[in-house]
Amino acid sequence: MSLRPYEPLLAPSILSADFTRLADALTLLGGAERCIVHVDVMDGRFVPNITIGMPVVAALRRETAQILDCHLMITEPSRYALEFVKAGADWVSIHQEADPHCHRTLGAIRQAGAKAGIVLNPGTPVEALTDLVGSFDYALLMSVNPGFGGQSFIPRVLDKVRRLDAMRTGAGVPFLIQVDGGVGTDNAGALVAAGADVLVAGNAVFKAGDPLQAIRDLLAAMDAGVRLA
Ligand code: DX5
Ligand code: ZN
Repeated sequence: MSLRPYEPLLAPSILSADFTRLADALTLLGGAERCIVHVDVMDGRFVPNITIGMPVVAALRRETAQILDCHLMITEPSRYALEFVKAGADWVSIHQEADPHCHRTLGAIRQAGAKAGIVLNPGTPVEALTDLVGSFDYALLMSVNPGFGGQSFIPRVLDKVRRLDAMRTGAGVPFLIQVDGGVGTDNAGALVAAGADVLVAGNAVFKAGDPLQAIRDLLAAMDAGVRLA
């Protein structure tokens, strides 16, 4: 039996939105069902791209009451994680590969009042989380190598989702499973059927001709996956 604490959520990534119109992106997501706002933070060191920092998160916070889900693709996330909470992030995720003391950093994020997430790159096995279960609220499996939007989905992550779902069921700890990278209507149902609860989608939402319709289509594909689970 799979542990499913919530109906699946969509996390559109504003990395793929028009950066001169971020308030419009927030308005769009605010008018959609079951969406949280995924914010991709990149430092040019952990990943080969530089994107958004705390001042932008603070500005987003002033514009919306929606959940701000900050995915930190940065080295030494312990230096900045609490800065993002102070800026207004509701959820903060850090990469397991970037922090030798992620257990401590996850605890600090929770202590500061945010949900703590742990992220695994495509090459990191889910077993890396075995001894961290109970220390995080959600686990994010990357289904592309992080750094850019618009990349192709790595199918092997489906098996990782199944193994992580089995891990949480075995442990009896209802953390959420999030998947990020190359998500679209072609794989959303299979991901949810495998155990995913939150799907990140950048290009599939913001590069669509009608982003609101794209959100509806993704949610419908996810709901079909729930029925298969
Ligand atoms: C990749 C980011 C993703 C990405 C998703 O490094 O973490 O959130 O922007 O974009 P798509 O859905 O276009 O792969
Ligand atoms: Zn992301």
